[in-house]
Amino acid sequence: MTRIQKIGVMTSGGDSPGMNAAIRAVVRTAIFNGLDVYGIYRGYEGLIDGQVEQMFSHSVSNIIQRGGTILKTARSKRFVEYEGRLKAYQTLMEFKIDALVAIGGNGTFTGASIFDKEFNFPIVGLPGTIDNDLYGTDSTIGYDTAINTVVGAADKIRDTATSHDRLFFIEVMGRDAGFIALRSGIACGAEFILVPETTTYVDNLARLLRHDWRKNKTSGIVIVAEGDEMGGAFEVAKKMKEKVPELDTRVTILGHVQRGGSPSAFDRVLASSLGYQSVRGLLDGERGEMVGIIDNKVVYTPFDKAIKHTKDLNKEMLEMSRILAL
Ligand code: F6P
Repeated sequence: MTRIQKIGVMTSGGDSPGMNAAIRAVVRTAIFNGLDVYGIYRGYEGLIDGQVEQMFSHSVSNIIQRGGTILKTARSKRFVEYEGRLKAYQTLMEFKIDALVAIGGNGTFTGASIFDKEFNFPIVGLPGTIDNDLYGTDSTIGYDTAINTVVGAADKIRDTATSHDRLFFIEVMGRDAGFIALRSGIACGAEFILVPETTTYVDNLARLLRHDWRKNKTSGIVIVAEGDEMGGAFEVAKKMKEKVPELDTRVTILGHVQRGGSPSAFDRVLASSLGYQSVRGLLDGERGEMVGIIDNKVVYTPFDKAIKHTKDLNKEMLEMSRILAL
């Protein structure tokens, strides 16, 4: 096995706060280890089109506190096809890049896994997504910041909900997973939390809202994960209004607000640690894996497992949130 001399780094898929801190850590750890490091712009799209630039220590100055990603990002349809992946491989050969750090989520690692098998190319992944829906790490980069963003918004909504005796349905991100909903819901004292991992029974929720909840409260917050099987917050609010017409309801979709902003200290430290570990891992021969942290320990998980082994949502915390909001 020849020693790695040049590595590439890229961000791909939905951006998340802390990606810049991860890029900074990768670039500086690589330079410290005597490697050349190249930034690839717009994820796999940039790899296909040859949007590659050498990075230096100063290239990543003053970015640890910034949201978004200086390397930009994209969801690449072309990389799904073999022709796209072949072009991406040709770019890597042209720049003599011999290993890659890919920062992203499910889509990014699905592509990385196929690419490694097809072209025998070493890639280590960093979990960068606000959704926290990757197996092999307690927390993904950006998740903590996103939760804090939701809680900040929900606290403000709570003020107006209380003043008007209203019930607010707040929709949060999490395409297939309820992690953001659960944790932010607990932190803002939400009366109900609807997640895709559990079935929401319309009649049940209506009964709770009509009787139990009304006994103690005149206003409230329901956090709805966008992936909830009952539909988004508008759909849920509509169904509830039909069943309990006396409710004064409002809907807020938080949307992409959750993806931006300065990363929390937690996300900066997580991103820095994982970025550092990814380069060390590549030099130690790790490949085809995502690096994560579980119980304060660095863990490498094969891409296929990170994507497909669904991380369990803590159902007891869901139960706890109901009891604490009674
Ligand atoms: O995967 C991260 C995520 O923010 C999801 O929570 C959300 O469903 C999706 O990306 C939105 O994607 P886009 O920015 O492409 O609309």
